[in-house]
Amino acid sequence: MEKQIRRIGILTSGGDAPGMNAVVRSVVRTASAYGITCVGIRRGYSGLIKGDVVDLGARSVDGIIARGGTMLYTARCLEMLTEEGLHQAADNAHYMGLDGLVVCGGDGSFRGAQALSRLGVPAIGIPGTIDNDIVCSDYTIGFDTACNTAIDAIDHLRDTMQSHERCSVVEVMGRRAGHLALEVGVGCGATAILLPEREIDFDSMIVDKMKANRIRGRKHHIIIVAEGVGHAQDVADRIHAATGIDTRVTVLGHIQRGGSPTVRDRVMATRMGYHAVRILMEGASNRVVCSHNNEIMDYDIEEGLAMTKDLSQELYEVSQTVAI
Ligand code: F6P
Repeated sequence: MEKQIRRIGILTSGGDAPGMNAVVRSVVRTASAYGITCVGIRRGYSGLIKGDVVDLGARSVDGIIARGGTMLYTARCLEMLTEEGLHQAADNAHYMGLDGLVVCGGDGSFRGAQALSRLGVPAIGIPGTIDNDIVCSDYTIGFDTACNTAIDAIDHLRDTMQSHERCSVVEVMGRRAGHLALEVGVGCGATAILLPEREIDFDSMIVDKMKANRIRGRKHHIIIVAEGVGHAQDVADRIHAATGIDTRVTVLGHIQRGGSPTVRDRVMATRMGYHAVRILMEGASNRVVCSHNNEIMDYDIEEGLAMTKDLSQELYEVSQTVAI
């Protein structure tokens, strides 16, 4: 049964991710197609608490599908964790006449959506983070673009590492999750990948491997370190001390969060934005949109966040086998 939805809000929250603009566009256009008005809320939940909003029509999102970042700005809003902030946000949503709210961000952002739903503001989460660490979804918006950006940078590094016969230690983002590091490591043919989720025996899995590879004729090495593992410089120092190989460190940092989204991110963002509006129209609240085997579906937020998602063991084993 379709519910009468007249006006919805959209916000982006937490760390930005390429494809967030495509989500905004899809939500606004889908709403518009069904005669629903849409307001953009600036700077995540801070904008909801302060009432910092902008009306968005189908034409106001022209061209943003190709742009990185988020036209709505984003923030990590600590005030939302307080009772006062939360109630202010809910009161403002009611005052603005919002029949629903779409929140694009990570798990912290979904907790806010859950709390608002309990206060009578039907809220739907869409996973937007380069970390791909939303447990109930195979995929989060921004991941593919971030991987490609990192691979492109590492391809540049490889040229100079090859010329100097050096080892390149590259730190990629991911404080708590190694999905990005693993995907990038496999994609660039890394000798070793250090992940927060996996123990590594430094001597056998890095030093001995590098020495053996050198005997086999390999002249350069790429080691990928996920941010959450520790300092890339420490890893580089240990490698140099144990092998004598000239080693350099590159921290890719926020470069990975920017850039025009890939087709995968644009399409996923568009499908997920559409789904979010459709389920709001069906009367849903407190749901997180996700993808499973390329099918778009949704879960109760509590249920979705309680699931577990490990790194792909298959990919990890592949990475270890081919890095000789
Ligand atoms: O969650 C996305 C992410 O880019 C992580 O990979 C990284 O650890 C963190 O955000 C960095 O956050 P900030 O932009 O606040 O420094």
